[in-house]
Amino acid sequence: MLSKKIFDYTKEGRTVTCYRITNKTGASVEVLDYGGIIRSVLVPDREGKMTDVVIGFDRLSPYIKNRDAYYGAFVGRFANRIAGARFSIDGVDYEVEKNNGENHLHGGNGSFSERIGKVTDESDNSVTLTWESPDMDQGYPGALTVSVRYEFDDKNNLTLKYTGTADKRTLFSPTNHSYFNMNGPSRGFIGDNEIKIHANKFVPVDGDCIPTGSFATVKGALDMRRWTLLSDVFKKEDSDVNLQAGSGIDHSFAIKGYTGDGDIVRAAELYGANTGIRMSVCTNLPGIQVYSGNFIKDGLKGKLGQIYGRRSAICFETQYHPDSPNRSAFQSPVIEPGEKAVYTTVYSFDTPPKAVVLDGYTTNSGDISWEPLYKVCRAVIYDRTTPKDILKRVKGADAIITNKAVLTADIIKELDEKCRYVGLLSTGANAVDIEALREKGIALTNVPGYSTEDVAQLTFAFILELCQKVALHDDAVKRGEWTGSDDFSFTVSPITELAGTTLGIIGYGAIGSRVCEIARAFHMKVLVHSRSEKILPEGARFVTKNELLKKSDIITLHLPLSEETQHLIDADAISMMKDGAILINTARGPLLDEQAVADALNSGKLGGAGVDVLDKEPPSAGDPLLSAKNCLITPHIAWAAQAARIRLIEAVAKNLTAFFAGRKLNRLD
Ligand code: GAL
Repeated sequence: MLSKKIFDYTKEGRTVTCYRITNKTGASVEVLDYGGIIRSVLVPDREGKMTDVVIGFDRLSPYIKNRDAYYGAFVGRFANRIAGARFSIDGVDYEVEKNNGENHLHGGNGSFSERIGKVTDESDNSVTLTWESPDMDQGYPGALTVSVRYEFDDKNNLTLKYTGTADKRTLFSPTNHSYFNMNGPSRGFIGDNEIKIHANKFVPVDGDCIPTGSFATVKGALDMRRWTLLSDVFKKEDSDVNLQAGSGIDHSFAIKGYTGDGDIVRAAELYGANTGIRMSVCTNLPGIQVYSGNFIKDGLKGKLGQIYGRRSAICFETQYHPDSPNRSAFQSPVIEPGEKAVYTTVYSFDTPPKAVVLDGYTTNSGDISWEPLYKVCRAVIYDRTTPKDILKRVKGADAIITNKAVLTADIIKELDEKCRYVGLLSTGANAVDIEALREKGIALTNVPGYSTEDVAQLTFAFILELCQKVALHDDAVKRGEWTGSDDFSFTVSPITELAGTTLGIIGYGAIGSRVCEIARAFHMKVLVHSRSEKILPEGARFVTKNELLKKSDIITLHLPLSEETQHLIDADAISMMKDGAILINTARGPLLDEQAVADALNSGKLGGAGVDVLDKEPPSAGDPLLSAKNCLITPHIAWAAQAARIRLIEAVAKNLTAFFAGRKLNRLD
């Protein structure tokens, strides 16, 4: 619902109107037509209590008096600084106002942040303000029409859409200068908010906040790629050169996901533990100026009698980088005549659960995105966690996500009450003590099926290598054996034809049955053994384990590890197998008695083996399979195709969403 009321009057007697958009949940956003100021953002905390998360005032005068702080305002034409207050476009030099020492800041005094915009569109959940800026307004070339559409939807997304069209080539890089505090600004200090900035690079600046060069890799206090308590950042002030240059955080970050194609990607997040409110800032602009309110005046009287001061709140100003008009290393803020430039920034508010990922590195070393998880929770991601650090790291978390970091019964006993959920970043569940979780009533989920194709593919990569011996022949050719040969063809080791060979599949879940399909495509005969009898395709037969061991030329394992299946393939099982049989294990290491398998390989009883998993991972140097004959070993990579890992993260996020929505999905508890 959109409502409006008179907010105040300018000294010239013009009316300043306040537009309020209230959504279905009762959350609301107030926008003034003066300066396009966002006066309030009231969103529910974790108990549903509405909390105002921005700084603002009850009257117009404090906005005017403190105009150099740009409280809540729409700023432009060019947000942040232009060095020396000059730039040139197409060889023509332009001078703009020096309103920040020798430099130009936020479009100059008296720009959009101090002008009344005209309402050009209204809807139930939006209002659009438009400003006409004549040619050479504030020294900028070209007549520019600029509008900002403020939309607030029922999911508490506040979307700001900036549209600009000019009749000459000109600069266009506006922003909004709201000061946020997720614990409610009345608390006075932003230090108790946690921040996360999705950027590997930032723009280093001098003491006047002017870029000193190009981008630099985030480090020290400015490395906020993981959730960081702001007071911990400020603590580094005495030693961190970047914080000193900016008098705190006052830097532009290069948004990691920026594509330049208009995609809206996550730039930063802010979280208040007292309210549970998280704000996510997403944009299609390349940069975000994060400014920790270093110049807010102490003792400033705000809305509803609140008193603000230095660092009461923090700004997230999405924009082109500071001084980009003069720096070719940065994306250009120049728009073409007649072009309709559209920039979008979304501030989303929610109260997500906190999830700690204990060992995220193997799933995502940085080549893919955790975004699906960030959408549903406040994910704190560790590359790896040693057993002694687990309890410390999961403290206060609602959910734990693990791949191979082991949650023993002892650890589970010590988990705090808040933790209701464990999500596996895997199909197999042997990293957790399920009984201990059940006893505490903690939910457990896994991700079945995400790597079915990949495990089946690796199974056949092993089978093909062991039967066709591509690498072995390639080696021989590269060693010069072909060039020095008398014949047009030669082999270094016998080649086995798969058609007609018997494949024994132990375990017939999704992976086992996919392996069966591929085997049938190769015209192999298939024998299957699993816990319960299954309907099999033509050419495949269900048999006892012993029959399978006796009759198969190649045996492949696709079953979970449990007490019963540990050492499924031991000396006894091997003795039943055909001489020269091949063994494949892409399931779990302890399914094999490794010493027995190594002995059989070395004696020639087994013709070859392909294993992707070992007893201990990473293995110790003395692992008997490492030195066994004809044994191909890969470092647990069956699941590691990028497509599979992307599916995995999506599935983990879905499991978590389902759990917190009270639905059961992939539950093992
Ligand atoms: C920020 C700027 C700060 C300060 C502030 C307004 O965008 O980076 O240095 O000028 O605006 O007080």
